Amino acid sequence: MTMLKWIEIDSKALLHNLRLIRSLVKGQTKIIFIVKANAYGHGTKSVVEVAEKSGMVDWYGVNSLEEAIELRKLGVKKNIISLGYIERDEIVDGIKNKVRFTVYNPEYIVELEKKAKKLNKEAYFHLKLETGTGRQGINKNEWKKFKKIFDKLEYAKFEAVSSHFANIEDTIDHSYADYQLKRFKRFYAMIKKDGFSPLKHFSCSASTLLFPETHFDFVRVGISAYGYWPSNETHLSFLLKYKNELELRKVLSFYTKIAQLKELKKGSYISYGLTYKTTQKTKVAILPVGYYDGIDRKLSNSGYFLLKGERVPIRGRVCMNITIVDVSHIKVLSPEDKVTLIGKDGEESLTADNWAQNINTINYEVLARLPKEIPRILI
Ligand SMILES: Cc1ncc(COP(=O)(O)O)c(C=O)c1O
Repeated sequence: MTMLKWIEIDSKALLHNLRLIRSLVKGQTKIIFIVKANAYGHGTKSVVEVAEKSGMVDWYGVNSLEEAIELRKLGVKKNIISLGYIERDEIVDGIKNKVRFTVYNPEYIVELEKKAKKLNKEAYFHLKLETGTGRQGINKNEWKKFKKIFDKLEYAKFEAVSSHFANIEDTIDHSYADYQLKRFKRFYAMIKKDGFSPLKHFSCSASTLLFPETHFDFVRVGISAYGYWPSNETHLSFLLKYKNELELRKVLSFYTKIAQLKELKKGSYISYGLTYKTTQKTKVAILPVGYYDGIDRKLSNSGYFLLKGERVPIRGRVCMNITIVDVSHIKVLSPEDKVTLIGKDGEESLTADNWAQNINTINYEVLARLPKEIPRILI
């Protein structure tokens, strides 16, 4: 089968990153590999296939029941935690699929107990603690209310507490992360005093790479396993702390082919809105990918792709299904020549970080928004 646009997943790179992460985490700490959002755009099927064979992954983390069921259908037997909300109407399916629930509403836990009892099955949940991120999670002053419910649980099992850092990736000053960690420990001490000893997890990629003291019983690792630093600040903090490079390898490459080549006269406009006018005779390539394929419209007149080892700048607006690049400086070209949208070509390399810088976002968003419909090829 030939393809006009496709994404390649480098299994060796993924294995390398998982091994690297495993080497940074103590033996008793379990790795929860975060494969939500179609495995950060990489394609759940390909990624899970490699992760299952790697022997490096203990649990998987997803965002929804739907994603958990997708893993079960792929044959995953390992524990799966949903970090996102599972509707009350979906609790029964969640229990049947052995999903760990992230909880923070008291009435939800009562319902979990009721439904687990009816099914005569155990339902494991992780209580999210608010430590300063202002997202999901319960405040410390709510604990007594939860304790009263927990004292009566039989089928619903209080397996762990969790929390999430607010700005650990955004800065090289980790004082807020320290403050959150202290709040987490104080909160945990209170829970423990009341006779509960749940497991603990708090750590995303940044804290896993930088702060072993945040690892606890599990780390929840996403972006670094896919070969990306969470941010330049995290990378810099790592270099400052360890005086050593950590070689993460990018797992995903994204390609298309030229649909048409043509010459435009000096003074010709390119694409919608007439936002680009040629200043000289210009050779352009019409590419059959646009914002429908995850090529952000903000890359109009600002991004570039790679062709024959050279950078080819995007000219004019990115359309729904088409993008135009200037290929004047490349001599021999034909329709259907391969174009690298993300990946390596000769000496050049183009990453989700490059895209993100151009469009004022983060690599996570660039990757996660790559459409599911584009075929993922495991190599
Ligand atoms: C709750 C939670 N834990 C862990 C992660 C993984 O973070 P990272 O990709 O930075 O490793 C995420 C990612 O969004 C998350 O929302």
